Amino acid sequence: MKFKVARKTDRCKGCGFCTLICPSRDNCIGCGACVDACPYEARVLEEIWERRKEIEIKVNRERYTVPEGVTVLRALELIGFSILPFKDSKGREVGELSETEILAPCRTGGCWSCAVIVNGDLKPSCVTPVEVGMEIITCREEIEQKEQKRVISGFQGHAVGGVGTPYWIKPRTLGLGFRPIEVACFSHGCILRCPTCQNWEITYSAVEEEPLSPVEAARIMSYERRRFGVDRMAISGGESTLNRRWLLEYLKELKRLNRDEKARLHVDTNAVVLTGDYIDALYLAGATDIGADVKGFEPDTFIEITGIKDRELAKKLMDNEWNAIKYIVENYSDKMFVGIGIPYNEAFISLDEIYKIGERIAGWSPDVQVCALDYRPAFRRMDIRKPSYEDMQKVKEVLEDSGLRCVICQTEFGRLGP
Ligand code: FES
Repeated sequence: MKFKVARKTDRCKGCGFCTLICPSRDNCIGCGACVDACPYEARVLEEIWERRKEIEIKVNRERYTVPEGVTVLRALELIGFSILPFKDSKGREVGELSETEILAPCRTGGCWSCAVIVNGDLKPSCVTPVEVGMEIITCREEIEQKEQKRVISGFQGHAVGGVGTPYWIKPRTLGLGFRPIEVACFSHGCILRCPTCQNWEITYSAVEEEPLSPVEAARIMSYERRRFGVDRMAISGGESTLNRRWLLEYLKELKRLNRDEKARLHVDTNAVVLTGDYIDALYLAGATDIGADVKGFEPDTFIEITGIKDRELAKKLMDNEWNAIKYIVENYSDKMFVGIGIPYNEAFISLDEIYKIGERIAGWSPDVQVCALDYRPAFRRMDIRKPSYEDMQKVKEVLEDSGLRCVICQTEFGRLGP
């Protein structure tokens, strides 16, 4: 039978990140987490032919035989489950998954969307090694009775804010001392594989962190908000929206814990798995500010920025992102603070495309806040040039020419704009 195993190549620089995040250091289980996480692309998944010992497990109280040395997710796939990157990835209307479908968007152990019950406890199936005698429950009703978890870290004061932070509270210049305007935390795991990921150490690390329940995370966040003396609490990533149930429960708890203090709850997202009903649910759960990114007008740009190589999947994610942002702008501009982020670097997007993005957004609302982000060398794209202050001035002009009236641009010295 064929198995996937991660191997090191001669590109390795010995940084050790792959070892740090590996869920099974002595025996590769082919999860691929290290392949996605390596900044030097020095890990590859190879298919090998190998006879492996068969072990017996129970899934939903029935006996099955699966090969040893694979993930629980792979074992489930081998006995007939379908693994989906996001709910409507099969092109159907978004709805509940069938009982034989499992959502696994990040596949690096961060989001816990793929969690199943393993020997009585919730575990992320994508990075959990299957073991002899394991009792696995995939029944959604039983999973929902468990306390939800996901990996969240980096609770801290933030001096700049994000795409969904209103321009009037963002500082104009950087480096004048640390003055937090909000507190933020970061969700591990992302469905995208952006080569310029600015937060890759959080995005791809998970197994060394303790996952948190929504209540635990909301308590820490509320404490940090009071400690830093701010009224805003942001969740970013990775991608915050991957585990819908966790995020909604977190926001509800955060709202409850801060109900007397008119706190702002800010969700920072790449919007690729958002849908109308999810956005409605976020608002009802307590989100007051939302910042969403547009990662390209043309599919080729989206693919280059996000690193999603499967063209069909990339197209679906890009369409979802645009549809979600349109829905937010048209239905929530008067209910939540809405900001839209546009990544800029000449290495992967032209000013013509920036204009087209601006024009489309201006067609929905010329007054929505748009923030151009100067994508700097990071992660797998250390080769690109950091956009200069003048480059970002040009981006601002282009976006204003496209019809937008509230354009801010992030630069190395601070922000441009109103
Ligand atoms: S898909 Fe397994 S933790 Fe995200």
